[in-house]
Amino acid sequence: MKGMAGKGFNMILLILCFTNLKIILGHEHMDGFGEQPLAKIAIHKILLALHSSASITAAPFLLGIKGEDTEWVNVELHSPNPSVDDWVGVFSPANFNSSTCPYTAGVGKVEEPYICTAPIKYKYANDSNPRYTETGKAVLKFQLINQRADFSFALFSGGLSDARLVAVSNSISFANPKAPVYPRLALGKSWDEMTITWTSGYDINEAVPFVEWGLPEGSQTRSPAGTLTFNRNSMYTYRLGHMLADGSYVWSKKYSFKASPYPGQNSLQRVIIFGDMGKAERDGSNEYANYQPGSLNTTDQLIKDLNNYDIVFHIGDMPYANGYISQWDQFTAQVQEISSTVPYMIASGNHERDWPNTGSFYDTPDSGGECGVLAETMYYFPAENRAKFWYATLI
Ligand SMILES: *[C@@H]1O[C@H](CO)[C@@H](O)[C@H](O)[C@H]1NC(C)=O
Ligand SMILES: *[C@@H]1O[C@H](CO)[C@@H](O)[C@H](O)[C@H]1NC(C)=O
Ligand SMILES: *[C@@H]1O[C@H](CO)[C@@H](O)[C@H](O)[C@H]1NC(C)=O
Repeated sequence: MKGMAGKGFNMILLILCFTNLKIILGHEHMDGFGEQPLAKIAIHKILLALHSSASITAAPFLLGIKGEDTEWVNVELHSPNPSVDDWVGVFSPANFNSSTCPYTAGVGKVEEPYICTAPIKYKYANDSNPRYTETGKAVLKFQLINQRADFSFALFSGGLSDARLVAVSNSISFANPKAPVYPRLALGKSWDEMTITWTSGYDINEAVPFVEWGLPEGSQTRSPAGTLTFNRNSMYTYRLGHMLADGSYVWSKKYSFKASPYPGQNSLQRVIIFGDMGKAERDGSNEYANYQPGSLNTTDQLIKDLNNYDIVFHIGDMPYANGYISQWDQFTAQVQEISSTVPYMIASGNHERDWPNTGSFYDTPDSGGECGVLAETMYYFPAENRAKFWYATLI
């Protein structure tokens, strides 16, 4: 494998580390915008109405004990005063009490809201039991993904626009909330570079990130943010690792990808190009009721067809997170089977970039204030200027 200088295959390593990610709400300007369903929840107006005989419990307590990054949970609720617009919000981190959020001087409001983060999703309490308004009882099923923090569930009355907090659940957590997850492959700046971006909760000072990779049957090489040379045009396996201060390792699942052909090599490269996919929730959470359910069909079809194409170009409007950055986690999880297997090359859409008076193409608030930062941080692309998504890539 060595001694093939000039015909090598290089891998460079990119790390994305979120250590203290909080989802701060300041998006009342989104009201009436109608594009990000979470924006329909008026967090800043939520009042406390905790009721001692209302209850909400979530199980199991511990998720991902076999390393899973996606799990189903049951949320059991009981309300003495059920109403048709009761809803359950899913929060992460579990403690959404505003005393845990940075003081923002009210962002123009009279006082701080009781709740300072948006839920990551929600369902109406009657979702699984049409007789909820009579019985006051329901069991809701939610699908959670590992996203660096614990979870709690809260029962609200009064609908989305005039919500009252009635009960808060126990918190539940993935066994290792910091685990490396959702790898994203992208071609590098030259034909023989593959890059990997992933998400983990480990701070760079807390653990050394690296990729262990190689030919499936060959010895695996560890690449601590460096470059290695291998045969071209083969299948490689890889896994993501973090070495902790005590010398122990935390590993991701094992993945594989196929290296690009060298320039001029006679080969068939099949390309998928699409935009405007969005995301949706497999548990049918109402946040996206009829919003972009087709994104799951597109994702599933691309996963089924993985052997029939070599690269994907998602040319903008990816999760439509519009400032609700938890939605980027949900999106990277939704496309992980694709992005961990073939290069997932992105471009910017109005929902990644646009904001008034910031030099965006349209002078609209369509990015919800993201201004491209989330897109360019979550995904790699071989552009000279990270803020400009202009690049060429050899395939
Ligand atoms: C469930 O709640 C939603 C929201 O309030 C309402 O639109 C819907 O009609 C309810 N469904 C039933 C079966 O009561
Ligand atoms: C929020 O936290 C503060 C400080 O820990 C506490 O005094 C307050 O009661 C909490 N509020 C709720 C609704 O739990
Ligand atoms: C999309 O997926 C849903 C859920 O699996 C299915 O009911 C629906 O028929 C699919 N739509 C198309 C156009 O394939």
